[in-house]
Amino acid sequence: MFVTSPRPNTEIPNDLFEAIEDLKQELNAVILAHYYQEPDIQDIADYIGDSLGLSQQAAATDAEVIVFAGVHFMAETAKILNPHKLVLLPDLDAGCSLADSCPPQEFAAFKAAHPDHLVVSYINCSAAIKAMSDIICTSSNSVKIVNQIPKEQPIIFAPDKNLGRYVMEETGRDLVLWEGACMVHEIFSEKKIVQLKIENPQAEIIAHPECETAVLRHADYIGSTTGLLKYCQATSTEQFIVATEPGIIHQMQKDAPQKQFIPAPATNNCACNECPHMRLNTLEKLYLSMKNRTPEITLPEDIRVAALKPIQRMLEMS
Ligand code: 13P
Ligand code: SF4
Repeated sequence: MFVTSPRPNTEIPNDLFEAIEDLKQELNAVILAHYYQEPDIQDIADYIGDSLGLSQQAAATDAEVIVFAGVHFMAETAKILNPHKLVLLPDLDAGCSLADSCPPQEFAAFKAAHPDHLVVSYINCSAAIKAMSDIICTSSNSVKIVNQIPKEQPIIFAPDKNLGRYVMEETGRDLVLWEGACMVHEIFSEKKIVQLKIENPQAEIIAHPECETAVLRHADYIGSTTGLLKYCQATSTEQFIVATEPGIIHQMQKDAPQKQFIPAPATNNCACNECPHMRLNTLEKLYLSMKNRTPEITLPEDIRVAALKPIQRMLEMS
């Protein structure tokens, strides 16, 4: 049982890496990080992965404390799997535009309008949506999971319409789509990507399935963050145009220092392809969350129990 200090510590030590390592031992904590986190956080993490890998790690860990360097729905999934563990999220405001595009009340009405449909939800959704779902999926197993559902069974796919369209194309199934999307993956400019490809004809375009169909149709490879990373390692290609959040380029460059990774350009000139939610977490906030044992993820037990079933189904089917 960890007690939160009434007066939170706000002092940042000089050697943050060492201080975080010490706290890891003291708390028996594991740091799980997504590839869209800033490089320092990726470097101190015990495990970096895509949403499926992170859920599998969260399900398997025997650490007492899970420090989740990602966004709220990811830390929430870890808590759903580990109700008795302390799950910390360095910044509680680290949400997700895609999860926010599916409000529970509206989704309940949508589901009621399609009573004979099975609900397959992308993990990028709130616990309340998971609780209304039959199976959860991630970008790395969505096709595999839909392919395991009998052909005659009608399916609602939520909340990402872009991933849904991609799954429809890959499986040949007709899915009823919730009209949600990720603000980061929708910002890529097809026109600028094509221009970049003309300027760099040897480059391969690699894209996350949360991108719009207009971008995906130019991609040489489509996959989850882990899929993209593995593809870049496996192929002999030396240059890539990367259509996903550019945080992943840190690992791509570490794995293959001789290769070149060009972030796909956004429709405007800002750094809008960086996820503003993921980037709320910093190494300083990660340290303070461990030092003060807060902010902690909590959720109502009835929602947790209902949300656990479709997550377990996903882990079995992956
Ligand atoms: P994956 O890492 O599972 O591909 O998900 C990408 C994403 O957008 C996470 O928010
Ligand atoms: Fe959500 Fe998109 Fe950010 Fe992923 S990249 S956390 S889907 S807003």
